[in-house]
Amino acid sequence: MAGSLEDIPGVGPSTAKKLRDGGYIDIVSIAVAPIAELMERTGLGLETASRVIREAREMTKIDIISAKELYERRKGVLKCTTNSRSLDSLLGGGVETQALTELIGEYGAGKTQICFTLCVTCQLPPERGGLEGGAIYIDTEGTFHPQRVYQIAENMGLDPSSILESITIGRAYTSDHQMLLVESLSSEVDMSRVRLLIVDSVISHFRGEFVGRENLAERQQKLNKHLHTLQRMAEAYNLAVVLTNQAVADPGQFFGNPNKPAGGHVMGHACTHRIWIQKGKQGSRLARVIDSPSLPEGEARFMITERGIEDLEPEG
Ligand SMILES: Nc1ncnc2c1ncn2[C@@H]1O[C@H](COP(=O)(O)OP(=O)(O)O)[C@@H](O)[C@H]1O
Ligand SMILES: [Mg+2]
Repeated sequence: MAGSLEDIPGVGPSTAKKLRDGGYIDIVSIAVAPIAELMERTGLGLETASRVIREAREMTKIDIISAKELYERRKGVLKCTTNSRSLDSLLGGGVETQALTELIGEYGAGKTQICFTLCVTCQLPPERGGLEGGAIYIDTEGTFHPQRVYQIAENMGLDPSSILESITIGRAYTSDHQMLLVESLSSEVDMSRVRLLIVDSVISHFRGEFVGRENLAERQQKLNKHLHTLQRMAEAYNLAVVLTNQAVADPGQFFGNPNKPAGGHVMGHACTHRIWIQKGKQGSRLARVIDSPSLPEGEARFMITERGIEDLEPEG
C-alpha cells in the first residue's frame, strides 16, 4: 500500500529513520512484523513498537476484517499459468496468489523446472495467463540456472534478457540465512512489482542442519516461523508463493506410496495446496493434488521441454 512511514500516527522523522534502518520501508512490512523482531531490528522500546505495529495494522486493515472485506480481498486472488493447460486445470486455473503452493517430489521429478517456467510465465500479461510481475527465487541448493531460464523465455517468444532482469535471486546458505533473506525482502526489493516468490527447496537446509530426534522440535519450530512469514507475505503483497519439498521414505507405509513429504505436520498445515510430482512413462511427468481446501483430487500429465514445462504432445 502507498503512504510513507511518517503517515503512521505518532511516527516522526526519528522513529521513521529507525524503522527504515531496521529494514521496514513500507507500512505493510511493519503491520506484518512480529513485535520482538521489530524491537530487535529498530531498537524501539516495547511500548513504541507495539503502538507503531497497531497503527500500521489499523492503516493496512491486515488483521481484523469483515467477511465482506475478506471476500473483496479474495477477489484480488490471481492465477498464474504453468504453461501446461493440464496442470493449470489441476490447480484450478494456475498457481494462485495469497497462498502457498507446495511442489513435492523425489530428486529429478521436475519441481525446479516448474519453478523456472513460472519465473517466466508470471511476467506474461494477463491475457496470456500471466501476472505481469517479477519473480523472486530463493535458491537454497544452488540450482538456479539462468541459461535454462533464458532458453525457456526465448522458446516462448519472449525477450530473454528482460525476463532475466525481472527475476531476483536470493542464494541462501543456511536455514537462518534463508529465513533472514525472506524477512528482509520487503526492504531490498520493490514488492509492488513482484507477483511470484519461489523457495527452492524450502526444507533442505532445515533437514541438513537439524539432524536427530533431539533437534526435531527446534527444527519444526523454526520451519513453522519461516512458513508463517511466507504466508504473511503472500497475503500482504498478493504473491503466489511456490515452495518445493522433498519426498522422503515413509517407513510406516507398506502399500501404496512408499514416500511422504518431508517437514511433517508443520509443512502440511502451512501449505495451502500440496502437489505431488513424479516421473511418468516416456519422460512424462505426473502431478497429483494430495491436499487442498479448494481443489478436487485429480491428476495432470505434462512434459519437460525446451519451453520449460508444457502439455504432452497429442498422441498421433
Ligand atoms: N532443457 C531441457 N529439456 C528437457 N528436459 C529437461 C531440460 N532440462 C532439464 N530437463 C529435465 O528435468 C529433469 C530435472 O528436473 P528438476 O526440476 O531439476 O528436478 P527436481 O527439482 O524435482 O529435483 C532432468 O532430469 C531432465 O529430465
Ligand atoms: Mg530441484
